[in-house]
Amino acid sequence: MKSYKIAVIGGDGTGPEVVREALKVMEAASGKFSFKYEAAHFDFGGERYLRTNEVLPASAVKDLQAFDSILLGAIGHPDVKPGILEKGILLKLRFDLNQYINLRPVQLLDDRFCPLKGKKPEDVNFTVVRENSEGLYKGMGSFENKGAKDEVAIQISHNTRAGVERCLRYAFEYTRKYGRKKQLTLCGKTNVLTFAWDLWERTFNELAKEYPDVKTDYAHVDAITMWFVKNPEWFDVIVTDNMFGDIITDLAAMIQGGMGIAAGGNINPEGVSMFEPIGGSAPKYTGKNVINPLAAVAAGAMLLRELGEEAAAKAIEEAVRLVITTKLKDLAAGKMGYSTTEVGDLVVKHL
Ligand code: IPM
Ligand code: MN
Repeated sequence: MKSYKIAVIGGDGTGPEVVREALKVMEAASGKFSFKYEAAHFDFGGERYLRTNEVLPASAVKDLQAFDSILLGAIGHPDVKPGILEKGILLKLRFDLNQYINLRPVQLLDDRFCPLKGKKPEDVNFTVVRENSEGLYKGMGSFENKGAKDEVAIQISHNTRAGVERCLRYAFEYTRKYGRKKQLTLCGKTNVLTFAWDLWERTFNELAKEYPDVKTDYAHVDAITMWFVKNPEWFDVIVTDNMFGDIITDLAAMIQGGMGIAAGGNINPEGVSMFEPIGGSAPKYTGKNVINPLAAVAAGAMLLRELGEEAAAKAIEEAVRLVITTKLKDLAAGKMGYSTTEVGDLVVKHL
């Protein structure tokens, strides 16, 4: 029997509550699909930082490298200045574990929860491949004359040929394997950002020759936000840089039904990946047993798919779909008609 070692970072706010439900579902799936896993819990997050004044212990990255995968709840604490935990934990792990892909499947499961008039599950069904290690997130830049009237702040988008190429190659391979229309859209801004997007576009067109079975397409980032609202059915797989990917995936989460069900993966195809519900720590709902755990459950399914447990991943996704379509009144915290733990139980029952 296959056995996996999974690192669990519950994190802040409602993170631990939703991760508990994800693990409950994964545990049930492991029995049904004959694999085993061991979970080791790490206490990284705001509470630990406030207690120890250390954002991440020095050994964290090395310790996490010993695992097959990582499940993360949420990072963000109301008593910690914004940026410290995000940069010191989430972004640091993404960078140091070389998780250079941020994968965001966007699937509407029930039209009751779509804010777009007349759109059905088959209309909102695409995946965003976001570059996760470069661009504006490199943190390059400087101040000139800080605080003065003639202050200048410079923020650089740093794109390497190797970084762009590995991301695009992942997107082409992903489209070939999972794309329902075998169509890959590059989302950029070639008309204005003529250095970065020249490199992206050239590399995209070069790689396209190696993938004659993948249809390619291009959209400017501003236009894509318009198409997401008007014609989301046009898209299959979208590849973009770190900053644009950050922005368009929040919009994408809304058209699939909201943060309650939006999951993502920080993927190192050659190493240790980290899966998370993308909604954040929701401090005001902490400990109330009202938050929707389905995004975390869906992140657990993505984690199992990455480990090669495709059947278990599919079964969890189908159980989530059934619970959403036949049970839940709403996807928002406190409005589901069930508690956090009851929703976890319902998924287990439908598995
Ligand atoms: C995300 C988040 C992070 C990001 C923040 C919390 C640093 O918004 O995962 O999309 O900007 O990447
Ligand atoms: Mn974001």
